[in-house]
Amino acid sequence: MFASEYCMQVEKEQAKIRIEELRGLINENNRRYYVENSPVISDYEFDMLMNELIALEKEFPEFVTPDSPTKKVGSDLKNGLKNEFVQYPHKYPMLSLGNTYDITEVEAFAERAMKILGKPFTYSCELKFDGTAICLTYRKGQLFRALTRGDGVVGDDVTANVRHIPNIPQSLKGSGYPDEFEIRGEIYMPYKAFDRLNEERMRDEDPPFANPRNAASGSLKLLNPSEVAHRGLECTLYHILSDTMPFNTHDEALTAAASWGLPVSDKRKVCRDIGEIEEYIKYWDTERKALPFATDGAVIKINELDYQKELGYTAKFPRWAVAYKFKAEQALTKVLSIDYQVGRTGAVTPVANLEPVQLSGTVVKRATLHNSEQMELLDIRIGDYVHVEKGGEIIPKITGVETDRRTAEAVKPVFPDKCPDCGTPLVKDEGEAKWFCPNTDGCPTQIKSKLVHFLSRKAMNVIAGDATVDQLFNLGLVRKPSDFYRLTGNDLLRLDGWKERSAKRFLDSLENSKKVTFDHVLFALGIRYVGESTAKAMAFHFGNIDSLMNADREQLLEVEDVGEVIADSVLEYFASEAHREDICRLREAGLQFSVDNKKQAVSETLSSMVIVISGNFSIPRDEIKELITANGGKNSSSVSSRTSFLLAGEKPGPEKIRKAESLGIRIVDEAAFREMLGQPAVNDSAGEDSHTQNTHFEPTLF
Ligand code: IVH
Repeated sequence: MFASEYCMQVEKEQAKIRIEELRGLINENNRRYYVENSPVISDYEFDMLMNELIALEKEFPEFVTPDSPTKKVGSDLKNGLKNEFVQYPHKYPMLSLGNTYDITEVEAFAERAMKILGKPFTYSCELKFDGTAICLTYRKGQLFRALTRGDGVVGDDVTANVRHIPNIPQSLKGSGYPDEFEIRGEIYMPYKAFDRLNEERMRDEDPPFANPRNAASGSLKLLNPSEVAHRGLECTLYHILSDTMPFNTHDEALTAAASWGLPVSDKRKVCRDIGEIEEYIKYWDTERKALPFATDGAVIKINELDYQKELGYTAKFPRWAVAYKFKAEQALTKVLSIDYQVGRTGAVTPVANLEPVQLSGTVVKRATLHNSEQMELLDIRIGDYVHVEKGGEIIPKITGVETDRRTAEAVKPVFPDKCPDCGTPLVKDEGEAKWFCPNTDGCPTQIKSKLVHFLSRKAMNVIAGDATVDQLFNLGLVRKPSDFYRLTGNDLLRLDGWKERSAKRFLDSLENSKKVTFDHVLFALGIRYVGESTAKAMAFHFGNIDSLMNADREQLLEVEDVGEVIADSVLEYFASEAHREDICRLREAGLQFSVDNKKQAVSETLSSMVIVISGNFSIPRDEIKELITANGGKNSSSVSSRTSFLLAGEKPGPEKIRKAESLGIRIVDEAAFREMLGQPAVNDSAGEDSHTQNTHFEPTLF
């Protein structure tokens, strides 16, 4: 092989590795953003990952796959895990928008449209509302249904919740609306409502939402519709779709929608050329700071509906619209001091205390510096003026230092080499950016925050605050989770200000926590990297704690979403004698350590079988998984030589089918599976509105 050929091959291999890495990162961050509502990177960082993947796929088209995140919209559906909402197909696919931070790309968009259309046209310029997308259907003037975007093909039915959003009309006024039409838009939470909600959550010791967008989409998916009414959500609608609509332009259609009482933005403008578009963008990049809600850009749409049709769609975006994204808002303020905070997992994070400053509708007093490397990189001093920005996280970050304004009094901070709490020398693992206190089971801050996590709402759901845990710890009453269940009324009366009533309330709450399901108990243990959804996946996969504790690395890797880092962390956790002993005590106290006892061990029919499921079934996928564990089987996410059979529902994944066929693994359908379990087949005659109905896409929009 020639040297140049060899180099090309290496480059190709590296590209393939990076493409896979980027897809993993993008999918994970999409899940955090759309499903968990708690992003860990900023929108800008996310867009940069996506741009890198688009560029690599362009250069190496042989690695393009139909399931690449460049070809699909991010999904808000709880894939594979229990979904509390009924899902319905979208009549027209619900796509996303191509976006850019670069004005020359908006110019290129306009030039492309001019070239393709070859005739004069106008643009509708609008604000890009930073919330969560919604699709409303009105039938005969009445709100009929509200669906989230979901994966663009099917969405979650959130009608009951949407009926509690005050500016969405149940009935239309005026006349001239089609018998049936869809109108899409954004549900968002204005800053005031967001601040109020987060204050309330912090008081109740619920984790605050990172930003108004996450708060809006979390609120839209609440299970109690009347609670939605208190969240202060608002809606703005920006896209009408119907088979019959007598309008020539998008702008006319929206004006008509406003006359029917629908909430349409009055901040839109019809522009004739790129100059006017740029003016609109420039104006709103400044003026948005005075708006009572978050906007993250402007959307530029071809205004004439016939021309929109002519330009059409890619698999993911309309060719008739583009989003120009504003850079995150920044503020300038002074660093007063730097704290080094020890987290639940021992990670030490430098946090700057700032002179309070207004940013994106809230007052900022603290900002994260992430880690020691970031501090070095910024070359920050106490006393410096710094730029603060809000990313995906709740704590804003410092993105730059005004070195020109530095004074002689500015002090260079020194990252501690010992834990600020217990004094243990800090360690840094290879590949980790953060320093850790390795004294996991002895560092008071770590112990206390693990105990707080154990009691928290999404874990054991025991009503108690940090201050209670602090006192219990300081009095030497609680060191590990099982100690909570040995507390007596007299112990609790030793706490500051506690009376019989508060003690009883706490003990009752602990008693109630014994009913908390296994997946939450597993999450409560606080195993590093095991978040809510991983705990759920592991609980369903193994069915009980013994199978999980005895699982080897390979078996752990079979769990959906579990990669090497999580598998190693789980192994390390259960290798500790102290952890095993405490689990024993918690079990004796009566906590749930297996998936729903009633459904457990219905039979041993599937005993020692490893089953992979794929596709849609007549019941939710997690119920199928429960059926498997209840009958002695094990769930696995990937087909391998150890798989006993592939249980294939409707539309199974082609990759899984191919793999099963190539390994000679049996493929079983739902009817055969139920027969195996001696269960009657489920009647699948779906009604008109059943969620098993096939999606049909109308090619024409107007
Ligand atoms: S038009 C075919 N207009 O931004 C897509 N979208 O990042 C039509 N968005 O998915 C969408 N403000 O959820 C449109 N004025 C606006 C918007 C807007 C916010 C959202 C929408 C979209 C996302 C893309």
